Amino acid sequence: MFGLSLVPLLFTALASAYPNRGPCTGACQTKDPAVIQRVSDGKFYRFGTGTGITTHSAPSVRGPWTELGGALPEGTSLRLDNTDPKNLWAPDVHYQNDQYYMYYVLSELGTKNSQIGVATSKTLEPGSWTDHGAIGIPANDAYNRIDPAFIQIGGKNVLVFGSFWGDIHQVIMDTPLKVGSAAPYQVSWNATLNHREEGAYEFKHGDFYYLLYSAGIAGGYTKNYPPAGAEYHIRVCRSSTGLGDFVDADGKDCKQTGGTMLLSSHGQVFGPGGPGVYTDKDLGVVMYYHYYPLATKQQTETANGNVNYKFSWNVLGFENGWPYVKAN
Ligand SMILES: *[C@@H]1O[C@H](CO)[C@@H](O)[C@H](O)[C@H]1NC(C)=O
Repeated sequence: MFGLSLVPLLFTALASAYPNRGPCTGACQTKDPAVIQRVSDGKFYRFGTGTGITTHSAPSVRGPWTELGGALPEGTSLRLDNTDPKNLWAPDVHYQNDQYYMYYVLSELGTKNSQIGVATSKTLEPGSWTDHGAIGIPANDAYNRIDPAFIQIGGKNVLVFGSFWGDIHQVIMDTPLKVGSAAPYQVSWNATLNHREEGAYEFKHGDFYYLLYSAGIAGGYTKNYPPAGAEYHIRVCRSSTGLGDFVDADGKDCKQTGGTMLLSSHGQVFGPGGPGVYTDKDLGVVMYYHYYPLATKQQTETANGNVNYKFSWNVLGFENGWPYVKAN
């Protein structure tokens, strides 16, 4: 029998733990995943960082996932010094006007030499994408043009992006293919010295728009991996307009170092980041992300660090209008 005095201890232990990650079977390697269900047949497609943007499909978020190939097998038509047009990052895919739009990144790692491009497809299949090149976010030292995530708000085409340097920005696009004259603006910023925020995603649920972002150190986990807590983790802010004014659960402005922890390292899940959200007909609101299996972290560095990240997901519950990671 538990003595009464054990009850507070039990609650403390529960409060700091996360439920198990959702299962993934088949080909689960991914980095910066984007998941979408094909409108015609409900089949799941998963895109990720890698040659021509990696494409996988599955009958459910659990898998089994099958590798299909590069979305843009010949790479992008974009050209940037010191980059390989096939080495594309951080896709975001949505459906609009009877077709799919994929935003992707061409970037020189560790620099602001980056561009966000867009391609369209009717089917999501590798090789079916028509590349349209850069969307035209103006260059600015205030941000880095990486990690796009699209959302439509009141008929406006809104792109969240950035940034590592300068953290998270938004820009209103003239069309899903082009940014016009609208200037990007900041939506989240950590004012402390190592203020890394990137890999954001915005979605609406109930009365609020939620901004998820990845904070901390994204990789290099196999050699000089970061001190506990400094690695990637996912934070959340919310807003009633979705176009700024994001605050955290304590009411702190997310442009002034606000941001509530949603998911951090636990068990085998090290450095979760690159989140996205969709509504599953069986599971409800699902957040997916990549993580680094802890067992891999202790091995030696491989030539391509990207291969070690795995896909996972959890159901989100909401309490008082704030999401939390719920047991599946
Ligand atoms: C801001 O950055 C500091 C230093 O990296 C970190 O300790 C803190 O958790 C960050 N705050 C938020 C809200 O992300």
